[in-house]
Amino acid sequence: DTGRTVIRGGLVISATEEMHADVLVEGERITALAATGSTLAESWTSGDARVIDAAGHYVIPGGIDAHTHMEFPFGGTQSSDTFETGTRAAAWGGTTTIVDFAVQTVGSSLREGLDTWHAKAEGTCAIDYAFHTIVSDVTEDTLKEMDVLVDEGVTSFKMFMAYPGVFYSDDGKILRAMQRAADNGALTMMHAENGIAIDVLVEQALAAGKTDPRYHGEVRRELLESEATHRAIQLARVAGAPLYVVHVSASEAVAELAQARDMGLNVFGETCPQYLFLSVDNLAEPDFGGAKYVCSTPLRPVEHQATLWRALRTNDLSVVSTDHCPFCFSGQKELGRGNFAKIPNGLPGVENRMDLLHQAVVDGHISRRRWIELACTTPARMFGLYPRKGSISPGADADIVVYDPNARHTISASTHHMNVDYSAYEGKRVTGMPRTVLSRGRVVIDDDAYVGSAGHGRYVPRSTCDYLT
Ligand code: URP
Ligand code: ZN
Ligand code: ZN
Ligand code: ZN
Repeated sequence: DTGRTVIRGGLVISATEEMHADVLVEGERITALAATGSTLAESWTSGDARVIDAAGHYVIPGGIDAHTHMEFPFGGTQSSDTFETGTRAAAWGGTTTIVDFAVQTVGSSLREGLDTWHAKAEGTCAIDYAFHTIVSDVTEDTLKEMDVLVDEGVTSFKMFMAYPGVFYSDDGKILRAMQRAADNGALTMMHAENGIAIDVLVEQALAAGKTDPRYHGEVRRELLESEATHRAIQLARVAGAPLYVVHVSASEAVAELAQARDMGLNVFGETCPQYLFLSVDNLAEPDFGGAKYVCSTPLRPVEHQATLWRALRTNDLSVVSTDHCPFCFSGQKELGRGNFAKIPNGLPGVENRMDLLHQAVVDGHISRRRWIELACTTPARMFGLYPRKGSISPGADADIVVYDPNARHTISASTHHMNVDYSAYEGKRVTGMPRTVLSRGRVVIDDDAYVGSAGHGRYVPRSTCDYLT
């Protein structure tokens, strides 16, 4: 249905303001806002407009999850959500755009990786999607391809200081790619952990018989995150390139980001719900249960959470993405029984992010405008999706969530829609949930029903980062 829709009587929340307003949607776009009860707003509901009653609810931009891994190959297996199941679950959770990672494998081109990921996603997604590319093999050809991809809307490249032999790049390769990114306006995203040192500690732990999931957290030391973060920042300075550090978990790494930002550098940081709500204690759960919480960077001691919340308030961290990379406990996480290094890395979460961050509003960690900024507006601006995505404004895509701030529910694998056999937040009680979700003007979640369709979601080419000076 592509007619007129009026979302009436809700509290429209943006990153900077809140107002009781009606929102007019025509076709795939938002065309106007007007104060609820005004003559203009009343005029919209005459005729055949569909009216969505948002009284008592928030009206917010659809969430933008700038870090997901659907159908992601890792450790001899593949993440368990397809683009179809993962984007449907995202919609259930109030997220209407994902930016996923196409993977360049060693010996292949960026083009091959991107084509492969386009083929996975095309015709299957419930919501809109875009791509970053993981750069695993920096060659002269790769550098030239980067320019072409930027023109196709792939304006950010993730590199890894971790995972030697898989995605890892040495400092020379990182510097070269950063120089190219500086030239073509792209953003370098960094997985900042010293993988060479970590691999030594992994080997030593296993040799000492330390094979349980909790040793995953012990070997991936905070210092090896902050050291890599520091090094990535210096390399970016040398290259004159902007930098976005993904999945920041350690206070020590936050300190590096804060220092760089105080110097006025174009350095940005992202964290994820798992680092805000879970801790290293989860890695020690019995009966190999800790495997459910194995991701990299790892979960940290609970004290780190306060630093992350503070950094989210001060903007030393400016985006919350999920790094959604689900593996079933049964048959996938279990690959690492007897050897924590063989547990596929990653946590499910694309469906939970908006609600967990709303819970942070309820808990007093962030304001509700900051919630929208961290989950919608800044990701859109950071990754070149703004103003098409990330705000409720005339001209923007009608990606809108009618959010019930009072709906209590319990997060559980028995009720979630992600294709994974456990929840990292099992039993957690949260207040707030999406009631109606629109993707480009089409209702995809209608109270307790999914009414979208695979293939509604389209590829969105991105422009460059809106924060670069
Ligand atoms: O453990 C994680 N984070 N898995 C996904 C891949 C990555 O490094 O982001
Ligand atoms: Zn990573
Ligand atoms: Zn990731
Ligand atoms: Zn309601």
